[in-house]
Amino acid sequence: MKAVVYQGPFTVSVAEVPDPTIEAPTDAIVRITTTNICGSDLHMYEGRTTVEKGKILGHENMGTVEEVGGAVNRVRVGDRVSVPFNVACGTCRNCVEGWTGFCLRTNPTEGMDGAAYGYAGMGPYDGGQAEFLRVPYADFQLLELPAGTEHENDFTMLSDIFPTGWHGTELAGMRSGDRVVVFGAGPVGLLAAHSAMIRGASQVFVVDNKPDRLALAEKIGATPVDFGRADPVEQILDATGGRGADSGVEAVGYQAHDASGEEHPELVLDNLVDSVRTTGGIGVVGVYVPQDPGAADDLAKEGRIGWRYGQFFTKGQRMGTGQCPVMRYNRRLRDLIVAGRATPSFLVSHELPLEAAPDGYEHFDKRDDGWTKVLLHPGS
Ligand SMILES: NC(=O)c1ccc[n+]([C@@H]2O[C@H](COP(=O)([O-])OP(=O)(O)OC[C@H]3O[C@@H](n4cnc5c(N)ncnc54)[C@H](O)[C@@H]3O)[C@@H](O)[C@H]2O)c1
Ligand SMILES: [Zn+2]
Ligand SMILES: [Zn+2]
Repeated sequence: MKAVVYQGPFTVSVAEVPDPTIEAPTDAIVRITTTNICGSDLHMYEGRTTVEKGKILGHENMGTVEEVGGAVNRVRVGDRVSVPFNVACGTCRNCVEGWTGFCLRTNPTEGMDGAAYGYAGMGPYDGGQAEFLRVPYADFQLLELPAGTEHENDFTMLSDIFPTGWHGTELAGMRSGDRVVVFGAGPVGLLAAHSAMIRGASQVFVVDNKPDRLALAEKIGATPVDFGRADPVEQILDATGGRGADSGVEAVGYQAHDASGEEHPELVLDNLVDSVRTTGGIGVVGVYVPQDPGAADDLAKEGRIGWRYGQFFTKGQRMGTGQCPVMRYNRRLRDLIVAGRATPSFLVSHELPLEAAPDGYEHFDKRDDGWTKVLLHPGS
């Protein structure tokens, strides 16, 4: 089959690789209809992870079940399914408690709980930017979707970024009526804003400096805040009578940059502490890493980030972090899509055949104007 393979910094190729096979009786093989490029893939693409050459990328996958192992009896061949990005067993302590992003059994890497498809440090699983994908623990993992092709571009957000955006608001302890600030108007930030609105926010601010992304935020009814124009903290304090937002979501990650493009891993954490009110909550879904050898300063190379923890403590704020446990939310988010209450497809800018993945990676990585979310359709 054809698959998108990591070759080295800023290079992916579409290569011919062996088809996946059923390795355990609990596996299924999914024929991929849509697989997305994610901001998380860009950390690998830019050479800022330990991902090995030859890895098949892609953790945002959906399609139809092609084959099932002998122990799979809930999911059937032909079912249309969304594949949560977390590879999870369903029976360990964390899975049973709903924290499938921290499955205790699926990642053999010493000291790492939680696994994912096609991702650095997240276990030996191939990604789904390919014609087919092997899915372990298929009965537990696969989310059934209504048959047909309707809502394809909405349902494709269920594997990661819609649940992740929702999780950001949940980690922040957001309540209806809150004024919410979201840092980052990438796909995750825009879907955190969409989630906050569905959950009854009274106002949602979205901070970025990319005009096309801020325009999308405005289109869904959020208040865009351009950090290139003025200090975003001042803009939010001004707009909230000096009080600050009730809750905040971090949807940028460790490669946060200032208006000149220079990276400062502490910048958005500091901005959140300063723009969220005392006793407010902060949900961090933007990725931070235990080691970042490519960082500019020595502390950040060791994963140490000097953020305003003292001010965070003094303001009595709360913070939640980590990979999204997709299965905690994906059923209910699917139902919101079917009911017409959620339309996460609003951010899709490009739909490409698998062969065009190198081009898609290049434009999305440069955050080129109008490249807000790229979907790949293998076999199209
Ligand atoms: N926790 C999870 O489970 C999970 C899942 C998916 C993605 N992620 C992470 O979420 C983050 C966002 O993903 P994405 O796909 O939206 O990526 P993205 O890179 O497209 O979006 C990030 C956005 O942040 C903006 N930005 C940079 N510096 C900023 C600053 N100082 N203030 C405000 N905005 C700033 C960029 O301009 C960009 O638009 C990434 O770190 C990704 O790895 C986490
Ligand atoms: Zn993703
Ligand atoms: Zn588990």
